[in-house]
Amino acid sequence: MSTIRPILVVAGIGNASGTGAATARLFAKNGYRVALIARNADQVNNAAAEINKSGGEAAAFPVKSYDYTDVTNVFQTIRQYQWPSQEKVEIRAALWNASHGVWKGFLDVTEEDIQASAQANIVAPFAFSRAAISAFKENDIDDHGRRGTLLFTGATASIRGNVVTSAFAAGKHALRALSQSLAKEFGKENIHVAHAIIDGGILTERSLARHADSKSQEEYKNNHDIRLSPESIAESYLYLTNQDRSAWTWELDREWHFIGLRRRFGGV
Ligand SMILES: *[C@@H]1O[C@H](CO)[C@@H](O)[C@H](O)[C@H]1NC(C)=O
Ligand SMILES: *[C@@H]1O[C@H](CO)[C@@H](O)[C@H](O)[C@H]1NC(C)=O
Ligand SMILES: *[C@@H]1O[C@H](CO)[C@@H](O)[C@H](O)[C@H]1NC(C)=O
Repeated sequence: MSTIRPILVVAGIGNASGTGAATARLFAKNGYRVALIARNADQVNNAAAEINKSGGEAAAFPVKSYDYTDVTNVFQTIRQYQWPSQEKVEIRAALWNASHGVWKGFLDVTEEDIQASAQANIVAPFAFSRAAISAFKENDIDDHGRRGTLLFTGATASIRGNVVTSAFAAGKHALRALSQSLAKEFGKENIHVAHAIIDGGILTERSLARHADSKSQEEYKNNHDIRLSPESIAESYLYLTNQDRSAWTWELDREWHFIGLRRRFGGV
């Protein structure tokens, strides 16, 4: 194992209360430098500052949009970024967590909705994957047979369409197809590609804010049967990244425990 500190690149940080940020925090605690990509400059700067403050090393890379050119360019900026300790930059892990959700009946879906879903769920992750894989190919193979790990956050809509998800599910199905194709093509080149189906609501400040009164907020926060925690998803991403090549998993399906509750609380 080389002594160079590895870098995790995460796209999709939102306002730092969800999966992307929890993954960045956990990897930072485990010796990774983390490069954070998001569209909101203030939020991504705050997220990086927070990780720095708690002893990690993070840098923020805001993007104007998740289009092919911006994603390609920001990855190039990350590759050229001078981290303070001047060690060689070695990107070992990358997570595509950005997304664009559309929840509308089919006849209400506009061309803009379809374009936005295709952009964030297909076109931009193609650019991200290309840049990540190109970076991994320059890495040496480590003691566990790896050059790098590319992770994708999926959703229930990755494998199942539903009444209001035509545009979203089409995008998420495509993202899964991309990740499966890459897993097959690059596994033999020591690059691990994995897709995680997050089959349910995730506890974030935003999802919590959707619960009107404090009683249902408390229940949502404390009842582990009705929502997923970003920290435990992050643990799964670290686990995937640490897998030995002989046991690589392509897909994790985080099935929700209680079907009845899924019906009650959504989960598209
Ligand atoms: C966090 O620390 C890194 C490295 O020490 C530095 O390059 C970066 O500018 C800092 N970022 C913020 C937002 O404080
Ligand atoms: C990260 O992925 C989760 C799970 O799909 C999603 O809820 C969240 O909105 C994503 N974050 C961003 C910034 O897109
Ligand atoms: C994140 O967004 C939610 C609602 O959208 C809000 O309640 C929360 O305060 C925000 N958190 C931060 C750190 O900005």
